Amino acid sequence: MDIRQKLQLLEDFNRQAEQGGGEEKIEKQHTSGKKTARERILQLLDPGTFNEIDKLVTHRNYDFGMEKKKILGDGVVAGYGKVNGKLVYVFAQDFTVFGGTLSRANADKIVKIQNLALKMGAPVIGLNDSGGARIQEGVESLAGYADIFYNNVMSSGVIPQISAILGPCAGGAVYSPALTDFIFMVKESSHMFVTGPDVIKAVTHEDVTKEELGGAMTHSAKSGVAHFVGKDEDQTLMMVRELLSFLPSNNLEDPPVKSTIDPSDREDPTLNEIVPADPNKPYDMKEIISRVIDNKHFLEVQPHYAPNIIVGFARFAGQPVGIVANQPAHLAGVLDINSSIKAARFVRFCDAFNLPLVTFVDVPGFLPGTGQEFGGIIKHGAKLLYAFSEATVPKVTLITRKAYGGAYDVMSSKHIGADVNLAYPTAEIAVMGPEGAINILYRDKLTDEEKATAVEEYRETFANPYKAAALGYIDEIINPKVTRSKIIAALEMTRNKRKTNPVRKHGNIPL
Ligand code: HXC
Repeated sequence: MDIRQKLQLLEDFNRQAEQGGGEEKIEKQHTSGKKTARERILQLLDPGTFNEIDKLVTHRNYDFGMEKKKILGDGVVAGYGKVNGKLVYVFAQDFTVFGGTLSRANADKIVKIQNLALKMGAPVIGLNDSGGARIQEGVESLAGYADIFYNNVMSSGVIPQISAILGPCAGGAVYSPALTDFIFMVKESSHMFVTGPDVIKAVTHEDVTKEELGGAMTHSAKSGVAHFVGKDEDQTLMMVRELLSFLPSNNLEDPPVKSTIDPSDREDPTLNEIVPADPNKPYDMKEIISRVIDNKHFLEVQPHYAPNIIVGFARFAGQPVGIVANQPAHLAGVLDINSSIKAARFVRFCDAFNLPLVTFVDVPGFLPGTGQEFGGIIKHGAKLLYAFSEATVPKVTLITRKAYGGAYDVMSSKHIGADVNLAYPTAEIAVMGPEGAINILYRDKLTDEEKATAVEEYRETFANPYKAAALGYIDEIINPKVTRSKIIAALEMTRNKRKTNPVRKHGNIPL
């Protein structure tokens, strides 16, 4: 063969691999509203940056006549490229080839990508669309999954790991995405479950559709498994890019600072009007957040799950931060099991990847009730306390209104290591709210009139930020209109923070 023939052979191989499962299967994928693995990767990455690895890999299976069915690439497209100009590793399961199922050979491709990403310190993005373990390969496929899971765990907290579910993801296969930092799903076309509707029908006699059981809204609003939902694949992949813009490539890097034209000293007098005079009236904490961050740009994580707490990414003077905020517009911003778990996981992510934490507090306490106590609010609430306490990134806290009881301590208080604690003049920092306190102190000993006077007296004496400020627990009580510049000053002041926790194998967060 001369060089021309050799080049022709290479081109033929490449074309074959790019055909995946063939035109008919690609057509089927398109008619079901889904892109192919290659189209997805091209959509995700900066144009012209994709380099494919292991394009010519085939499976090594001889059972069920599989030796006669070999397709180049074997059901997963893998490689590296750039997002926002930065290196990322990506793999996309190709549903047109054996239903994107996991064989030993294609698991090895994913493992190779994971190992490279860990060695080079760059994020891994997995685009999932698969029938799960390739039945013909038996335990070899299970071994492949386990290798991927193990790598997910070894990479956790070292490089960002992102999963987009763009089709089926069932059985044990769900555990790789579950071990990654963020899961994206697409409305109507993606599904995740450990056991599907048929097995559930047989075992528990429950009738449930695939969508109800493991669709995007189920996992973003009910189970909390998913963090982001896109209306279609294009939007979902755009959101992955947006998320990456806030993140460093690995745990040894700082998050990328983006220049902004939003002035650091921008005052906003509307902030003086947002917290209502009546402490029992709700307001939307997102109003405050969007008015103080750069260009109102807030990427909210898990917006549909436990909306009594808000978590997400934003920038102050170009510096990415993680925001945690009670939401008084939902259940009065109370802490409960779900909101504690949601926020704790987010805080730990930010701490692992050097994102400062900015916390907005308006919390009446923990949610009372047998449902919460039997469900383990003690251990779940402790997760958030643990996460804030162990976080060594810069921590800036602003109390806008209520900070009552244990929840005051939990919400990034000075006592558990916050660096700058600010409060509005409307802040109420005490063991509990006035009505509750007077009821306990005086039980049935007061007339209604005396009770009202006592409540008012308590409010005047305790329901304010001045006692805490007198003790140095609050560093500064600020005029709300200057919130942005005060937070930016605090972030600048803490930029070179050095803090390490005691050396140990690992802590024991209450799981
Ligand atoms: C081998 C499989 C397969 C599998 C699908 N295919 N799942 N091949 N092993 N697990 C093949 C089909 O035979 C078909 O091949 C092609 O993929 C497309 O599948 P269809 O059924 O035609 O597509 P569709 O109607 O869209 O249905 C997709 C599906 C369904 C919902 C994913 O195929 C399905 O339910 N598959 C089984 C899912 C499952 O139970 N997997 C095991 C989960 S447990 P042809 O040649 O006709 O194109 C698991 C354990 C992981 O994964 C353990 C980790 C520890």
